[in-house]
Amino acid sequence: MAGFGAGERQWIDRLGNLRNTVRQEMIRRQLADHVNSSMSVLDVGCGQGNQLLELAALGCTATGIEPSAELRDLCSRAGHHRQLSIELLDGSIENLDAVIADRRFDLVCAHGLLMYLVDRSAAIATLAQRVRPGGLMSVTFRNGHALAMRPGLRGDWAGALAALDTDRYTNELGVEARADLLDDVVNELASCGLGLVEWYGVELLDAEDQAGRRDPYRWLGSQVHVIARRP
Ligand SMILES: C[S@@+](CC[C@H](N)C(=O)[O-])C[C@H]1O[C@@H](n2cnc3c(N)ncnc32)[C@H](O)[C@@H]1O
Repeated sequence: MAGFGAGERQWIDRLGNLRNTVRQEMIRRQLADHVNSSMSVLDVGCGQGNQLLELAALGCTATGIEPSAELRDLCSRAGHHRQLSIELLDGSIENLDAVIADRRFDLVCAHGLLMYLVDRSAAIATLAQRVRPGGLMSVTFRNGHALAMRPGLRGDWAGALAALDTDRYTNELGVEARADLLDDVVNELASCGLGLVEWYGVELLDAEDQAGRRDPYRWLGSQVHVIARRP
């Protein structure tokens, strides 16, 4: 896998498009059911900061970790524009210890990150370590159960067939990434002491908000959003 960096320019160029806007709004609404203003939040790979800034606007104490200088700059400028106070740090999931020492948080987010990381289990364990007792983790990942949906809906039958037998895909940024299965992620969270609270489909496009909360539609989202809690 090439990693996110190969698609960063495309990501930045598409930030305001319909798909990204819908995805961010879905995740915001889904998270809103679980957060309150007294929480401390860590968002790893916060990028341009949509969720981090929404959480700061709710009153949460918000810390973002982001390796890209350009995305940090976008996030920081959006925060200033909205007069929100956030802590924004140059770092990555690989060097969290150096960046935030032993700090733990009420909510740890990693949205749109797992699919670019080679070792998903290690990443989940690293994020889980940062969750306080009673705290939550929120992760989104590419839905391995629905990889054939997007090419199928486009009428790309060769692409749909190929997608049935792999966990790799090339995303809209032109970057090769990995799709994951809900059970695998939930089991890895459980082995880190985090129990499933709720999961949602993301990016269903039609009747997003309601469909993403119920079966069978949430299985069809191109991404999955999992909320887990450390007892
Ligand atoms: C698809 S973007 C998602 C940004 C944001 N979380 C969102 O949902 O809009 C992926 C983000 O992860 C960051 N990233 C890539 N590799 C990373 C790593 N190893 N550790 C932390 N962040 C990383 C990228 O720079 C980028 O900001």
